[in-house]
Amino acid sequence: MEATQFKVPYKLEQPTRGVERLSLSYFRCYEIFSVSFDLRPVILTGPNGAGKTNLLEALSFLIPGRGMRRARLSEVKQQDSQHPWSISALLQDQGEKIQIGTGLDPETSDSERRVTKINGEKAKSQSDLAEWVSVIWLTPQMDRLFLDGPQGRRRFLDRLVYGFDPGHAQRLNRYEQVLKERGLLLRQGRLDRYWLEGLEETLVNDGIAITVARREVVGQLSNVLKNQSKAFPQAEISLEGDLENLLRERPVLEVEDEMRCLLAENRDEDRLMGRTSLGPHRSDLVTVYPEKNQLAALCSTGEQKALLLSIVMASAQLLSVRTGAIPLLLLDEVIAHLDDVRRTALFDAILQLKMQTWLTGTDASLFEELQGNAQFLSLKEARLVSKT
Ligand SMILES: Nc1ncnc2c1ncn2[C@@H]1O[C@H](COP(=O)(O)OP(=O)(O)OP(=O)(O)O)[C@@H](O)[C@H]1O
Ligand SMILES: [Mg+2]
Repeated sequence: MEATQFKVPYKLEQPTRGVERLSLSYFRCYEIFSVSFDLRPVILTGPNGAGKTNLLEALSFLIPGRGMRRARLSEVKQQDSQHPWSISALLQDQGEKIQIGTGLDPETSDSERRVTKINGEKAKSQSDLAEWVSVIWLTPQMDRLFLDGPQGRRRFLDRLVYGFDPGHAQRLNRYEQVLKERGLLLRQGRLDRYWLEGLEETLVNDGIAITVARREVVGQLSNVLKNQSKAFPQAEISLEGDLENLLRERPVLEVEDEMRCLLAENRDEDRLMGRTSLGPHRSDLVTVYPEKNQLAALCSTGEQKALLLSIVMASAQLLSVRTGAIPLLLLDEVIAHLDDVRRTALFDAILQLKMQTWLTGTDASLFEELQGNAQFLSLKEARLVSKT
C-alpha cells in the first residue's frame, strides 16, 4: 500500500499499538489478501462492494464473538470456495510483536467452530483474545441500537468491558451456558435440588461479577462523557435492572444471598415463563439526551446518530488510556453523514486518541483534512496489487 506522505510535519503523538499487517484467506470477497499498515489512522476508500466493510469485519474477529456483522461463521467463508476462512494479524504493542490467527477450524466438520492461535499457540478458547485486543466499532446497522431490544446494547457494553476485564468474556460465556442448562432442567421438570443449586451458584457468582464489571465501566464512561468535546452531544448513560437496583442499595455479599434465594424461589415461575427472571441477561444500558431530557429511543434519527457517535468516541477515549489490550476503533461509513463542523471535530478527536482508528468511505475527498496524518488505502487498487 502507498501510504500518503505528510504535507505538514506530524506533531501529534502517534499510537504505539495497532495492526501492522493483516492477511485474509477465503474471507468473504477476499481470496488471498495481505496488506501492511503503520499505526496512524487507516482510511479505506473504494466504490460500493469494494470490500471495505469486509476488511473491518475481519478486524472485528480479533475479539471474542461473531464479529461486527454477527454473521454465522459459515457465511463468512468465501462463497463457492471449499477452503475454511482465516485471518491473521501482526500487531504491535509498544515495540512488542503479537501474531493472532483465527478462522474456521479446518480439523472438524463443525462449520461454526472458530479456532484461534496467539503467537503460534492454539488458544483454549476464543475468550482468550480479550486479553490481547479490544475493538470498538460503529456501523450503519447500529443506527437502531436505541430502538431495538436491550441485547444489542448489552453486547455493545460488554465489548467495552472486555477491554478492562479480559475475564468478562469467559464469565459471560459460562453464565449463558448455565442459564440455558437451568432453563432446560426446569422445562423438563428435572427438579434435582442439588443440580439446580449448583447451577444457580454459578449464576450468582458470574452474574454479580458481570454486573459489577459493567457498572464500573458505565461509571467511568459517564465521567468521560461529561467532559466530552462540545462538538458531540452530551449523553447520560446508566445501567438498569433488578440486580443493579439491589447493588445500588446493598453490599455485594448481601446481594449474592438475595440473588441465590430469589433464583431458588422463582423456579416455578421461571419454568412457566420459560426464562430466568433475574440476572445480567435482563439488564439494559439506558441513554438519555439531557439537553432535552429525552430518552435516546425518543430522539430524532439525527440526534440518535449523534448520541451514538458521542458514546462510541467516549468509549474509545476511555479504552485508549485504560486498557492493557491493543485497542482498535472501527468507524464504518460514519463520515459521509456528518456536517463539516462535526467531521472536523471527529477527525480532531481521532488524532488525539492513542489508538489505531479505521475509517471507511466511498469518497477519499471527505478525508482530505487527514492528509498527512493518516494512511489511505484504495481497496480496488490494493486488491489488484496484493492478490497473489
Ligand atoms: N461470503 C462471501 N463470499 C464472497 N463474497 C462475499 C461474501 N460476503 C460478501 N461478499 C461480497 O463482498 C463484497 C464487498 O462487500 P463489502 O460489504 O465489504 O463492501 P463495501 O466496500 O463495504 O461496500 P459499501 O460501500 O456498499 O458499503 C460484496 O460484493 C459482497 O457481495
Ligand atoms: Mg460497507
